[in-house]
Amino acid sequence: MAGRLDGKVALVTGAASGIGRATALTFAREGAKLVIADMNADGGQQTVHMITENGGAATFIQVNVTQATEVEAMISQTVETYGRLDCAHNNAGVGSRPRVLLHELPEESWNHVIDINLKGVWLCMKYEITQMLQQGGGAIVNTASIMGLVGSWSRSGAYNASKHGVVGLTKTAALEYAQSGIRVNAVCPGYIQTPLIEQTLSANPDMEAQIVARHPIGRMGKPEEIAESVAWLCSDAASFVTGHTMTVDGGYVAQ
Ligand code: NAI
Repeated sequence: MAGRLDGKVALVTGAASGIGRATALTFAREGAKLVIADMNADGGQQTVHMITENGGAATFIQVNVTQATEVEAMISQTVETYGRLDCAHNNAGVGSRPRVLLHELPEESWNHVIDINLKGVWLCMKYEITQMLQQGGGAIVNTASIMGLVGSWSRSGAYNASKHGVVGLTKTAALEYAQSGIRVNAVCPGYIQTPLIEQTLSANPDMEAQIVARHPIGRMGKPEEIAESVAWLCSDAASFVTGHTMTVDGGYVAQ
């Protein structure tokens, strides 16, 4: 049976772990050739191995998404390897640390989160879009969050601001490139069981029950549940969808 992404070239940042790895595996199952991009080389190579051992095509590129020269090189290497770039999932990100009220937040913590979660997404889009304009189109999905749609109860002001920024950037890019064949959407996950959340929970064990209680479905999500929506948004089945913020959140923001 034909896959939804047959023949497409897809790039996933933050693909060494969690949601990014799940998206990469789903893209590969749907027929895409993958660029696995991450700072973490061991995890990235593991994702490559998980794809190639099942007969898929994947290559790893080490990148820090906050560095323009590295992001530019990531796109050049993608094109050198596979000839084009059809789909990009800009997903690399970090959580807020320390979890404190915003007047207590150290400036370096603010800068760290905004640099990776917001500037990193903009830099990736900058070079992806440059390539997509040259080849006549493409599809981009940015990982925002429910924390890009509503305020945060969990002392994560910088994270919340970064994800609202990703939503704004997504909508603006959708408008700027709608007539150039480039669709730009965001996925807004609820709390998902990944190393990012596991780190938060190990430092704040009492948060787990509070988190689960805030999801009407009564549990946290799985990375694969986000990957499905990203694959759909990148596929031709979503050809009339752009500027959309898709919540995949067990009902969190419906309340
Ligand atoms: P994760 O920690 O499992 O994966 C994040 C990946 O990003 C890691 O492999 C890490 O090495 C990479 N990364 C971090 N900084 C980087 C940088 N500067 N350059 C390149 N790679 C970098 O976390 P998870 O949960 O899979 O997060 C993925 C995205 O989903 C993030 O943007 C996060 O904010 C977002 N998200 C996560 C939710 C959750 O509950 N887990 C909920 C909503 C959004």
